[in-house]
Amino acid sequence: MAKIQTKYVCQSCGYVSPRWVGKCPNCSEWNTFVEEAPSPLRVSKKPAGAASRIEPIPMERLETIDAPRIKTNIDEFDRVLGGGLVPGSLILLGGDPGIGKSTLMMQMALEMKGLVVLYITGEESVQQIKLRAERLQAKETKSILLLAETNLDLILDVIERGIPDLIIVDSIQTMYRPGLESAPGSVSQVRESTALLLRFAKTENIPVFVIGHVTKEGMIAGPRVIEHMVDTVLQFEGEAHYAYRILRALKNRYGSTNEIGIFEMHDTGLREVKNPSEAFLSERRYGTSGSTVVSSIEGSRPILIEVQALVTPTSYGVPQRNTTGFDYRRLSLLLAVLEKRVGLHLGSYDVFVNIAGGVKIDEPAIDLGIAVSIASSLRDVSVDSSSVAVGEIGLGGEIRTVGQIEKRVQEAAKLGFKRIVVPHNNLKSLRPHDGIQIVGVYSINEAMEELLG
Ligand code: TYD
Ligand code: MG
Repeated sequence: MAKIQTKYVCQSCGYVSPRWVGKCPNCSEWNTFVEEAPSPLRVSKKPAGAASRIEPIPMERLETIDAPRIKTNIDEFDRVLGGGLVPGSLILLGGDPGIGKSTLMMQMALEMKGLVVLYITGEESVQQIKLRAERLQAKETKSILLLAETNLDLILDVIERGIPDLIIVDSIQTMYRPGLESAPGSVSQVRESTALLLRFAKTENIPVFVIGHVTKEGMIAGPRVIEHMVDTVLQFEGEAHYAYRILRALKNRYGSTNEIGIFEMHDTGLREVKNPSEAFLSERRYGTSGSTVVSSIEGSRPILIEVQALVTPTSYGVPQRNTTGFDYRRLSLLLAVLEKRVGLHLGSYDVFVNIAGGVKIDEPAIDLGIAVSIASSLRDVSVDSSSVAVGEIGLGGEIRTVGQIEKRVQEAAKLGFKRIVVPHNNLKSLRPHDGIQIVGVYSINEAMEELLG
């Protein structure tokens, strides 16, 4: 008889080793390996004669099924999903604890009037879920079924007695299969539970949501280990101290991964932000130095947003560089360009950069806005408040072309800005706009002249 081999699995990244090791060769974490007995699901015997019954199908013979989408009735959500939920899809909703995942799911369940939604909770009691629904001022709740259970085998028994239209599992890290020896939340439990839900979603053709917490310490399996199994990976993000929440699709087998949904957390739940530029600029203070408005493209939408910089002399030790919502390494690069090409000596200054509203932007088109804000704060001269800055900065201090310039200009004009500074090379693809002056610049020095005077 073949000897069943135990294996050791890194609880941080899922790396499998035949022996116990102290440091993971894959993710370099220490003491993350846990012994896991082989799962009984894997030791399957091939049924005799089964091979003769399966056959490949000529692709030509298959009909295209245009699956009707199930609307969540939350526009921002449907957009991110690519137009609604696809029946039979397994969707992972990831995010930091406390960001609002359970709230989003409950709000969606409440909006899907007429559909039977089964909400499986492994974290909160049914009473707590009910309290949340009350806080969301729910009226129609009779088609929402609650189940507080973590044993997936029992859960599936319950589900098979009456198949709902949609299932929400909150959260995947609390679910377990009794056949496996490892604890709930371990890599093998999370993986096997997901595999089971995946099979269920496909055979019953209903959408299943699984919530996954992002864990920083890495001792409990994060949603990463199941990203490859699910159809769609959504991420809910935002800064804890701000109300704005952004929903992104990191992977979507049924739609684009470009779209984002913007929400604002209120005391009665999440509200859709239909006009993001207005919302993000609403707290802008005019006439202070270190603030520039940029036009960024998030998904297919242009968003105007304020980028702020604060430059102060370093009081002791090494100068600090600190960013919120912007890539730290990109800031270092911009500081180096400002030093070399503009002659700003920032070596004895602390530099803080903040994207207002708590959103994260990783688009190089906001480079120019950041550089101008830094120069503005250093010189204590405010940036022209009726202007918008757009452009990627190259290592030579040149302003490089950005995509979708027309949309950026339109948005700036729509919000009443009088002038927009853009890369010179973008001018040829732009038509003139009423009410807004378009200024093309070749270099960062030229842009500073335009915006800082
Ligand atoms: P929750 O959905 O429980 O987060 P997660 O499931 O991602 O862990 O919500 C977390 C926070 O949102 C919590 O601190 C309370 C706050 N909240 C509101 O501000 N307004 C509301 O209407 C609700 C339901 C929650
Ligand atoms: Mg929750």
